[in-house]
Amino acid sequence: MVRIAPSLLAADFANLKDEIFRLNEAGADMVHLDVMDGNFVPNLTFGPCVIKALRPYTDLPFDAHLMVQNPDDMLEWFALAGVDMITVHAEVCPHLDKTIDAIHALGLKAGVSLNPSTSENVLEYLLDKLDLILVMTVNPGFGGQEFMENQLPKIAKIRSLIGHRDIILSVDGGINPMTAAKAIAAGADMLVAGTAVFSGEDMAKNIAALR
Ligand code: DX5
Ligand code: ZN
Repeated sequence: MVRIAPSLLAADFANLKDEIFRLNEAGADMVHLDVMDGNFVPNLTFGPCVIKALRPYTDLPFDAHLMVQNPDDMLEWFALAGVDMITVHAEVCPHLDKTIDAIHALGLKAGVSLNPSTSENVLEYLLDKLDLILVMTVNPGFGGQEFMENQLPKIAKIRSLIGHRDIILSVDGGINPMTAAKAIAAGADMLVAGTAVFSGEDMAKNIAALR
């Protein structure tokens, strides 16, 4: 069954603790934490202090999606904040292999995210050490953008690159019940969704609709 990772970016930022409780009840599989630095992406969100404050209120795994220019300098901050996984962007890690090792050395799972313009080729020599691959189906920075259909072939190519390896293939951006079906058909087994999970009152129904 496909996993659902709600993105806290679409939550009510004035009530984050309650939003975490809602995710617990609604059947989320993981909490996706969009960390933006106003540099790699044109937006600012939250960092390790906020993540640390939320950590006691759920047992769900936390994945920090670092949309920052210098992730290598920050890995330990997020480990100390209590995340379970760190996902970095290939575009800002010149020594991506070493970055993945550094995440693992902190006792965490490691993911790599690719912007829409980045080829899946950068993954080829990393496959034996990755826990998650995150295909961006929007240009990162904002929630509520339109799903980029031209990323579907990339998802399919990565699915075949993964082969029998135990790597989660996740998709992030513009996911709704219609685009979710396309992403799953292309090979995704995890969906990150902000708008589609947090809109309306019935979060459990929203999550079920994505699955
Ligand atoms: C985009 C973020 C996504 C985003 C998804 O920069 O990485 O996680 O919040 O939001 P929706 O589901 O609204 O496209
Ligand atoms: Zn994200």
